[in-house]
Amino acid sequence: MAPVDPHSFTDSTHPLTTHISLTFYFDFPSSTISTATLLTLPTPYTGPLILDTRSLSITSVLEPLSLSPLPFTLSQLDPILGQSLTVSLSNHTQILILSKTCPSSSALQWLTPPQTFNKTHPFVYTQCQSIHARSIFPCQDTPAARVKYAAKLNIPRELSGVMSARHVERRPPVMSEGQGVCEDSVWCGDDRVVEEFVMEQPIPPYLFAFAVGELGFREVGPRTKVYGEAVSEVLDAAAMEFAGTEEMIQVGEKLFGPYDWERFDLLVLPPSFPYGGMENPRMVFLTPTVIKGDASGAQVVAHELAHSWTGNLITNKNNDHFWLNEGFTTYAERRIVEAVQGEDIAALNIGIGWRGLVEEMERFKDNMEFTKLRTNQAGIDPDDVYSQVPYEKGFQFLWRIERQIGRPAFDDFLKKYIATFKFQSIDTDMFLDFLKANVPGIENEIDLKLWTEGTGIPPDAMEPVSNIYSKIVSLANEFKLGRMPREDEVADWKGQEWELYLENLPKSVEASQVTALDARYHLSESKDYEVRVGFLQLAISARCRDYYGVVEKTLKEVGRMKYLRPLYTTLVQGAGNEEEKVFARRVFTEACDCYHPIAQGVAEAILAKHA
Ligand code: BES
Ligand code: ZN
Repeated sequence: MAPVDPHSFTDSTHPLTTHISLTFYFDFPSSTISTATLLTLPTPYTGPLILDTRSLSITSVLEPLSLSPLPFTLSQLDPILGQSLTVSLSNHTQILILSKTCPSSSALQWLTPPQTFNKTHPFVYTQCQSIHARSIFPCQDTPAARVKYAAKLNIPRELSGVMSARHVERRPPVMSEGQGVCEDSVWCGDDRVVEEFVMEQPIPPYLFAFAVGELGFREVGPRTKVYGEAVSEVLDAAAMEFAGTEEMIQVGEKLFGPYDWERFDLLVLPPSFPYGGMENPRMVFLTPTVIKGDASGAQVVAHELAHSWTGNLITNKNNDHFWLNEGFTTYAERRIVEAVQGEDIAALNIGIGWRGLVEEMERFKDNMEFTKLRTNQAGIDPDDVYSQVPYEKGFQFLWRIERQIGRPAFDDFLKKYIATFKFQSIDTDMFLDFLKANVPGIENEIDLKLWTEGTGIPPDAMEPVSNIYSKIVSLANEFKLGRMPREDEVADWKGQEWELYLENLPKSVEASQVTALDARYHLSESKDYEVRVGFLQLAISARCRDYYGVVEKTLKEVGRMKYLRPLYTTLVQGAGNEEEKVFARRVFTEACDCYHPIAQGVAEAILAKHA
């Protein structure tokens, strides 16, 4: 037994699945999916094959042609990994597994009609990164195993389905194609329809994604449609916000090479979506909080688009090397932003990231392992240690290399890196070897070991150099001395300027100063959640209880973890805040049904640790 990934039961001596054929029957009343999973191996194989599962009930494991049962065992539950499913094969290339999800499957959020915008139909969507695909279907749930797949979604006829895969057709169900997931009479019910998809490029399982609901779309570019709940206001606002997407794709192609995924569609999810964005191939998933009416949502799109090269083409082999996905993508995102929005905005983003990185050092001061780029996550739930470190320290490392060799040489290096490793899953050493081979002598200029294996922020990391950035940071410093920015100084500030300003304020300021700042600039009412949440953190730290109503409202209307984490943490951490702890618990109890299971887990962990 040789594990390839600390987060998977996959054994390195076993063959890796190359294709998965999925048949899903969606049952909204019970919030479950009945599934047939047909796994294909590269060649006939004899011996045990270990798969990952979590909270799946396995009905049967079969040889697909004869439908004769194959012996299998399900391990005890590991709280992080789930249960391993071991199937005994003798000269088999395919396995058919019938299973059913449970309503609390960690990848799925089931929304009742009242939890949607239109209030008339239910909705369900996936979030598989990092290790949740196994809660939908059994698989070798490690990015070391890249698979192609085909999927049939049997759904209620009034809904439609989308996937991060090529849509083949929407058609009536056909007898006996259900592969045993349910009776033919149920599969072929009058009220049902089948949506078929194929993914012909090999992807890591965490990029598997679908959404089913009452969906509509707007066309915003030659290879881009924006999907969302079929509500004109939502779709029109999204179409406006993301009108510049094609320009960004073209910038990306110029910088990183051809866009290999054909379509770049966007899906705007309900407010409970736990992330800002998720780079599902061909169709990125987005929180509606990025739609602010000023095209600033483009930054998140730039990030998810950049993953089309760094992350989806070249993938981290396992989560210990997550920085290869997010650090490269953050670098690539900022190059796209710089090209379309200019150097000042890119510098603001670098500055916001720098503050984030400095704060993570404080968060992990007792657990410095997670301030490293290459980490050891054995026994650790990736959702618990998700942080800015792989993003911002990774960005800083690549920016440092760029400074060393100059932009033209670094651009050539990046293009070559992508062309060399595309459709592969790699680790930190493979990157370093490639770097040393292509930039001879780099190890004498930059302490590569310190950057990749050391804790903390290396001395040759740096803050951005830009007038706007320095101006905002110095204004924030003056606040500590009691000076608030004048109206003429903030006249052209948008969300990101305010975000950077708020991040640079001291963590403990007087309640009276907080109130005065809000009286002048109405930050607590901002439609921009980055600004509102930044301000509310300050208000909570200063125990300005007048704002707790807004805190409660915010915690109940969005499920994006970027906002839940700091708000719950600021409420409950430390001592002498009994009232805040009680308040946080009550709000969580009332709000948690609206959070995605991943966000529920993260918020629960914060409360358990402090309250
Ligand atoms: N891949 C991540 C989201 C993710 C990471 C999901 C780890 C699950 C586990 C995505 O590309 C991302 O980084 N999203 C950011 C966007 C931001 C950096 C612009 C987010 O959600 O905030
Ligand atoms: Zn990312």
